[in-house]
Amino acid sequence: MKILVTGGAGYIGSVTVELLVETGAQVVVLDDLSLGHRAAVHPSAELAVGDLADRAAVDEVLARTRPDAVMHFAARSQVGESMREPFRYVGDNVRNGLNLIESMVEHGVRRFILSSTAALFGEPSKIPIDEQERIVPGSPYGESKHMLERILAWTEVVHGMRFAALRYFNAAGASEARGEHHDPETHLIPLVLQVALGQRERITVFGDDYPTRDGTCIRDYIHIIDLAQAHILALQALDQGSRTYNLGNGQGFSVMEVIEAARAVTGHPIAHVLGERRPGDPAALVADSSKIRAELGWSPRFPELRSIVDSAWRWHRAHPQGYAE
Ligand code: UFG
Repeated sequence: MKILVTGGAGYIGSVTVELLVETGAQVVVLDDLSLGHRAAVHPSAELAVGDLADRAAVDEVLARTRPDAVMHFAARSQVGESMREPFRYVGDNVRNGLNLIESMVEHGVRRFILSSTAALFGEPSKIPIDEQERIVPGSPYGESKHMLERILAWTEVVHGMRFAALRYFNAAGASEARGEHHDPETHLIPLVLQVALGQRERITVFGDDYPTRDGTCIRDYIHIIDLAQAHILALQALDQGSRTYNLGNGQGFSVMEVIEAARAVTGHPIAHVLGERRPGDPAALVADSSKIRAELGWSPRFPELRSIVDSAWRWHRAHPQGYAE
């Protein structure tokens, strides 16, 4: 099977490409390298450097490579940044996704896996969050992914597109060869590990007055390899119908608990200070992933927070500058 992976030079995309290649798939990565890294692309995958905003470039890649399916990772993905630059988020994520979907319809490619998000559920009515939860995005980022889910639903009705929307909770950890490197980094686990590596003096905890057990935000951290595996299962099941899944470990950890886990894994004291709340952050997001477990037989191989942090720590120690030359 030939798969086109947009954003395959990014964090989640590159690890999914690694797994796809291991399963024997032929992979073409489409990435403009604005946020991704050339070195993250698996050497067995073809890299096409191009921008999804450029419809002609998307047409060219689809016409030339004729994939059986597309996995669409390329997007802006930071909740906090989207609260400062809402138009950029809704604009880029929706326009680029729409370019891709329209071009796929024109080229007869009708299998789509969407990177969706837990940010669809601003302040959920209950925890853990299942697929019945009302969608009220808490940020322009979440809204942009909701719009793409809706566009795909109509593309199925009108054009027969089959899609799976995977609503990720917090992707974390690393494979042996590929890990998390954003510039600038904003994510909790890599920032905490930068303190342990001596690259940063302390971590700022964004608020401790949330209605949670220790007052800091609770998130559901899912190992990147488990997340990538879910894409492969979803793709295999696509011909039996479109589907939407909430994808997490089902267990929530507070910001302070993540810092504690990193202290235990690294043996470093990891200094922290208290800061303001970050706009757009919900108090708690934890997935109920029973649907994907029941329907696809997915289950996390690395559910323990410690093993997730440990895999990230191994990668960051081996690559203290990430993918930078
Ligand atoms: N946090 C801090 N200090 C920091 C960075 C983060 O306290 O320096 C806190 C945040 O406030 C949040 C938690 O750590 O409560 C996790 O923050 P991240 O930035 O690592 O991740 P987010 O939960 O904001 O967002 C991630 C992805 C989104 C996705 C979301 C789904 O970046 O794309 O998970 O839960 F939508």
